[in-house]
Amino acid sequence: MQYITEENITEIALSRWGTGHDPRTAELLTALVGHLHAFAREVRLTEEEWATAIRWLVRTGKISDEKREEFVLASDVLGLSMLIVQMNNKFDSAATPATVLGPFHLKDSPHVEYGADMSDGIPGAPLYIHGVVRDIDGKPVGGAVLDVWQSDSEGLYESQLKGVDEARLRAKYTSREDGSYCVQTIVPFGYGIPNDGPVRELVNLTAMSTFRPAHVHFLIDVPGYERLITHLFREGTPHLDDDVVYGVKEQLVVSFVENEPGPPPNGRESAEPFFTVEYDFVLQPRA
Ligand code: BEZ
Ligand code: FE
Repeated sequence: MQYITEENITEIALSRWGTGHDPRTAELLTALVGHLHAFAREVRLTEEEWATAIRWLVRTGKISDEKREEFVLASDVLGLSMLIVQMNNKFDSAATPATVLGPFHLKDSPHVEYGADMSDGIPGAPLYIHGVVRDIDGKPVGGAVLDVWQSDSEGLYESQLKGVDEARLRAKYTSREDGSYCVQTIVPFGYGIPNDGPVRELVNLTAMSTFRPAHVHFLIDVPGYERLITHLFREGTPHLDDDVVYGVKEQLVVSFVENEPGPPPNGRESAEPFFTVEYDFVLQPRA
């Protein structure tokens, strides 16, 4: 019979959690328990601090639903999401780098034609993002589905708005046989992470920025290639150097070129000035 003491409790807990039926489960849970105990010992966690943390976790769970992913946001602002992205997406230096998915991706975006307007009347300066999807050897990738989403000029995503029953600022485009794609949308703005939840409350306990720089999200999942989740960021936009979710990589910062009225890249006409971004997405073949 071994009675519990402050000295032996970690060892005993580790041996119990080490009995996980699956070896990986045992590895994950013993490492988690070991780090939690080490954390509590290192900072001499008080009961009041422990209770505050538990209440924060409860509130984070309660505010989450199928559209609001507050735990994903928590992972993002802690830098955990980008750490995991980088450990698991070690692409060739020629490939487009991966970044965080974030909490605002919705799965069922409609499939649209080459150059279709996913902003559909939402106010903003017209923006065309176009280029080629190819692999690291330069081979065009036709038939690639580009799942694209962004916020509006208030910094709000569809999932943050009540009563929206049609896809808003999101669509799926398919690259043509020569790999070319063209997205019509509006110029994105930077925005702060939601200010009505426990994650923002936590960030507000520090002096760090609560902002993300202006960007558009892309998810490209093609059989035979590594899935690419990434963003394109507007060059010169504020907060490229202190993105609250650590998502900015040099290769993803792109120039938004301003154009006079005339034919945009989708071959139609634009009676107003418009912006263009030319960017080739380079996919990593699956090992
Ligand atoms: C986003 O860009 O949608 C996002 C990503 C991570 C946290 C918050 C927002
Ligand atoms: Fe975003």
